[in-house]
Amino acid sequence: MRKKIVAGNWKMNLTSEEGQQLTTEIVNLYKGEAIQDVVVVLNPPFPHLYPVKKLVGDTAGIFVGAQNCSDKEGGAFTGEVSSKILASFGVSYVILGHSERRENFKEDQVVLATKINQALAHGLVPIFCCGESLEIRESGTHEETVKAQLTASLFHLSPGEFSKVVIAYEPIWAIGTGKTASAEQAQEMHAALRGHLATKYGDVIAAQIAILYGGSANPGNAKELFGKPDVDGGLIGGASLKSRDFIEIVKSF
Ligand code: PGA
Repeated sequence: MRKKIVAGNWKMNLTSEEGQQLTTEIVNLYKGEAIQDVVVVLNPPFPHLYPVKKLVGDTAGIFVGAQNCSDKEGGAFTGEVSSKILASFGVSYVILGHSERRENFKEDQVVLATKINQALAHGLVPIFCCGESLEIRESGTHEETVKAQLTASLFHLSPGEFSKVVIAYEPIWAIGTGKTASAEQAQEMHAALRGHLATKYGDVIAAQIAILYGGSANPGNAKELFGKPDVDGGLIGGASLKSRDFIEIVKSF
């Protein structure tokens, strides 16, 4: 059985107080609703990681993740945060390859492969994002484009390393636009990606990898998306900033 995962990507939002309030509400709702079998990952901006981790405490099933890490091990890299530092603060996951970082910060496939290595070397679970632009979708080359993103940044990993990775398919045209991929479009891509993973790592490992969907997922569409056989959860942006919405998504399996 694959893990079911719902990760909240707070992006560059929330003050200290707001972040602590949101975390407290999510932890209370998660416990209160006795949610089981769904892993929740909270991915706040860096300064929130420590207080969020403290508030989550030893709540079974809730983990803390970063939104980025350095491709370097450590040293004179002002403003960067290494996987080693993140792990030492109890961070368990890290989002890598988000389209906002690929576009705004020019992160290419090579640097992403190095970040993946750094994350794995320090025991962080990478949530590796991939996805196509509207232009690529309309040209009909979306499957090969997204498969190539996986090949370029992940296929150097050994089978043992690769089995720790989580994948998030996020069509760029659906991120923050209110325009979700249909459940059929998500399933089609997820199945194609799983097939692609199988060509490199075999059916058994491919069947174990959680593939999340991201892009305007909300309490109204999560059930249908998560109902698809190859959709193992979601990477949630906007709707992760409201505790009730986020928990409704978590409960959508
Ligand atoms: P969204 O963002 O849910 O606000 O579309 C998803 C993401 O960028 O991870």
